[in-house]
Amino acid sequence: MDTVRKAILPVAGMGTRLLPITKAIPKEMLPIIDKPLIQYAVEEAISSGITEIIFIIGSHGQIVKNYFGSDIQLQKNLIKIGKHHLIKLIQNVMPMHINCKYVFQEFPLGLGHAILLAEEEIGNNPFAVLLVDDLIDSDPHPPVLKQLINIAISKKTNVIGIEEIMPIHTNRYGIVSINKTNQQAEKIINIIEKPDIKDSPSNLAIVGRYIFNPKIFSHLQNVKPGVNNEIQLTDGIVSLINEQDVYAYRYNGSRYDCGDINGLFQATISYGMKYHGLLNKI
Ligand code: UTP
Repeated sequence: MDTVRKAILPVAGMGTRLLPITKAIPKEMLPIIDKPLIQYAVEEAISSGITEIIFIIGSHGQIVKNYFGSDIQLQKNLIKIGKHHLIKLIQNVMPMHINCKYVFQEFPLGLGHAILLAEEEIGNNPFAVLLVDDLIDSDPHPPVLKQLINIAISKKTNVIGIEEIMPIHTNRYGIVSINKTNQQAEKIINIIEKPDIKDSPSNLAIVGRYIFNPKIFSHLQNVKPGVNNEIQLTDGIVSLINEQDVYAYRYNGSRYDCGDINGLFQATISYGMKYHGLLNKI
């Protein structure tokens, strides 16, 4: 693995934890201050060296396409009303040199299924997966995806972002079992999906940043649908471990789970204060 240039952003989930707003607006388009969540993930990917982004979109996908597409009429109108300075702002939403692809997931059949749909676009290349609802503020460290890419290149294999969570929350995450050697990156021995605290092998949870070799696709193809007929990414990774090393990496950064109202609220307050100086102004 020399470098990672392609990234999959799966955004075809139902967002049930944020109903009713997700009935009208998909969660990746919800704002953290002045930008939709998805923009933060795109910026993280681009500043980590990604040049091709494959969005897996669902029934609300046109909203995402419209947001990242160019809007000539808006640009003309801004010129007409003398607001030239805003043109750069809207052009920067998706820089020209980034190649964007959209793949439609007709039914939300799970994260593993969503990733499988990008197989043709990925080809024989290593790739990243970013889950947009995990917003990670890595400042002053490099972007989290860049941290993972560096480890993937140095270990020449698959890497998954992990975080230490409160033990009572093990039943919300995929939990890894590793040989603890106090390294920031450790080889994964097993993953257990949402275990009860008493059955959990650790309190190290998988979060939404991954680097994979394309080998993961053949493992995902063999995963049997589980709860709700979904193909789970975790099952594909557990199978991959039998063939290739997969490292768990404790990234530097603070994560907000913006897939629920608590994380969304905390991220809004934190980004508002840190990056926009809000609240000080009240
Ligand atoms: P989640 O597990 O958060 O599911 O998906 P969800 O449907 O989005 O949200 P809740 O739990 O119902 O509130 C993790 C990521 O995987 C994508 C989602 O869009 C989200 O970014 N996903 C999930 C898909 O693209 N397709 C799927 O079939 C499932």
